[in-house]
Amino acid sequence: MSVDKTFYVTTPIYYVNDKPHIGHAYTTLACDVLARFKRLDGYDVKFLTGTDEHGQKVEKSAEGFGTSPQELADRNSANFRELAARLDCSNDDFIRTTEPRHIRSVQALWARLVAAGDIYVGHYEGWYSVRDEAFYGEDELVPGPNGTKHAPSGAPVEWVKEPSYFFRLSAWQDRLLAWYEANPDCIGPQSRRNEVISFVKGGLQDLSVSRTSFKWGIPVPGDDAHVMYVWLDALTNYITAIGYPDITGEFARYWPADLHMVGKDIVRFHAVYWPAFLMAAGLEPPRRVFAHGWWTNEGQKISKSVGNVIDPVALIERYGLDQVRYFLLREVPFGNDGDFSHRAMVQRMNSELANDYGNLAQRVLSMIGKNCAGQVPQHGEPGADDREMLDAAHGLLPKVRDAIDRQLFHEALEAMWGVIRAANGYVDRQAPWALKKTDPARMGTVLWVLAETVRNLALLTQAFMPAASGRLLDQLGIGPDARTLHHCGSHHALKPGTPLPAPAGVFPRFVEEEGAA
Ligand code: ME8
Ligand code: MG
Repeated sequence: MSVDKTFYVTTPIYYVNDKPHIGHAYTTLACDVLARFKRLDGYDVKFLTGTDEHGQKVEKSAEGFGTSPQELADRNSANFRELAARLDCSNDDFIRTTEPRHIRSVQALWARLVAAGDIYVGHYEGWYSVRDEAFYGEDELVPGPNGTKHAPSGAPVEWVKEPSYFFRLSAWQDRLLAWYEANPDCIGPQSRRNEVISFVKGGLQDLSVSRTSFKWGIPVPGDDAHVMYVWLDALTNYITAIGYPDITGEFARYWPADLHMVGKDIVRFHAVYWPAFLMAAGLEPPRRVFAHGWWTNEGQKISKSVGNVIDPVALIERYGLDQVRYFLLREVPFGNDGDFSHRAMVQRMNSELANDYGNLAQRVLSMIGKNCAGQVPQHGEPGADDREMLDAAHGLLPKVRDAIDRQLFHEALEAMWGVIRAANGYVDRQAPWALKKTDPARMGTVLWVLAETVRNLALLTQAFMPAASGRLLDQLGIGPDARTLHHCGSHHALKPGTPLPAPAGVFPRFVEEEGAA
């Protein structure tokens, strides 16, 4: 089947100096929801994630562990790959920057930049932060303790002086500004867009794109004394994975990427350097970069030295995968910073999943199981209250789609929960359990309206909570070929008389252990 609509979404590739934590899980999950939603909405999707394995930070960290950088990369890349699987992520590829396909791609891009006249050789002298793998100007540094200077991120910096190749970034200032201007959606949210534009307006220095003081990187073609700057290497992963330097196959189909999802820490690399590299190489810049906010743990910055790193696998084991997926995308307006706390997690899990959504589905399905011979009930002509309920459920898709297209996951979920709350109000008002004796035909109509509402909700929650939503659809007798978003709405409404399996709850409550925090 050939589908015209394509959607290419990427996560950052994560450094292998460290184990995966909640922050990495968050970005990857957000991309998974988008990828799943777009597939269900009829797009040919490519969803890419992977690991960033070169550079001084990984080399130093390997030294610290007493292993080779390649061994460290192999071990930790496997951890990230496993995390994506544990999160039930639907990524189509997992790229590693030490793979031959990538080395070939980066060297080809370098050759294009040289041919374009955008790379020249010189000397770098200035500040570098290994933790950020970033160069900083004197004016960007902030005072640290005891008269030291730090990167704005708080990372230590060191003075570097060495021969280096440079990318003529300064020459791209006006063309970058013109690109931002012509493409209002190319950076989201608006606050990040403003930040990037004012950074570029402040003037761009040429960028050092090679290093000679260490070896763990991709050699500069024709000059083995240099390895490429890890960010030039890393950013190129997004085109390697679609076949670059071959631009005829997947590249032609998927480029420019629809969305590079990143954290706010790395927006400058994606929204300034990367589009400049691409334009210099004669390639189109990505359609959109979205920078989300930062998670803290019970109010504290997450850091290894504080020892409060949240292991996403432990969260999944404690609360359940769908619950964690829901929480992370519901708790925080996407783009803002957020705080993880056990209390907030349990609150959402119990009130919104178990009570609101779970009880609605459970009440409806068990009443149907008991009173309608385990079949989709027969229904009469819907009245005003019924119609209002159905219209709300059938009208959800465009609202959710619009929120998803702007990466406003919390708004998408809020729209669905509006319908869930309306449905719980409708059950209470219509009291189908009382109709059982007085007006069984009317009971059938009410239960049908409710089951049809749950069907529409479950179709739409699939991208967020694939397992639980799938079980709800099973219980509504919806086959695997009737679960796309095309099936939302009245055209595919539940058929009375369809046999249904026995109902079972899908959103358990979290019960605090005796004496636990
Ligand atoms: O920067 N809250 O990799 P990285 C939210 N290799 N998101 C967080 C987070 C937190 N506390 N901590 C990390 C790199 N993240 C480069 C990227 S791309 C060509 C190269 C997420 O391992 C967030 O997406 O430091 C952030 O941008 C990313 O992890 C940084 O991962
Ligand atoms: Mg980082």
